[in-house]
Amino acid sequence: MSVTGTGLTVNAQACATVPETPTGACPDDLVRALRAEVRRGLDWQRTADRVAAALGDMLPEPAALLPARLRRGNPASYQSHLLHAEPDGSFSVAAMVWLPDQVTVIHDHVAWCVTGVLQGNECEEVFALADSGAALRLVARNENPSGMVCGFAPPGDIHRVRNCGDEVAMSMHVYGADISRLGNSIRREYTLPVIP
Ligand SMILES: [Fe+2]
Repeated sequence: MSVTGTGLTVNAQACATVPETPTGACPDDLVRALRAEVRRGLDWQRTADRVAAALGDMLPEPAALLPARLRRGNPASYQSHLLHAEPDGSFSVAAMVWLPDQVTVIHDHVAWCVTGVLQGNECEEVFALADSGAALRLVARNENPSGMVCGFAPPGDIHRVRNCGDEVAMSMHVYGADISRLGNSIRREYTLPVIP
């Protein structure tokens, strides 16, 4: 699909979805650490903060998550690979692989989300609804290099992510939702105009 805004036209792929069964692996010790934080039963923001801290302490190497053939990227679109789905549905983990300039649609999420960049550089643009909900306004632009971990919780999480580097980027994502059932954790795609 094509998205226009701020004078920019990009070829944004429809939301990447994952199959119901994992195509990669999440290290057992990391799953245990994430599970311990989720089971505290805190609110979304505090859960995201704690999961981000846990992930930041244990950020894996890309090769620990996906085989080499899945770490090369796909010219058709960025790829999302399921690594773990908690049996009780309380969280799930995915790895995303991006070629340079591959980008998501503008979207928000159904639940809290934590991201960690494992390789390359990802850029995130954050938007707010404007003009009584008829448009979006860019409110922040963040560059997330390898090693950067951040967490957020809806509402106020309208964003778009791009590989803004010149090499394959890879990130891992922990969602407070079961993406093996939902396909992804996207709540809504936004096609509103972006105003200055
Ligand atoms: Fe997102």
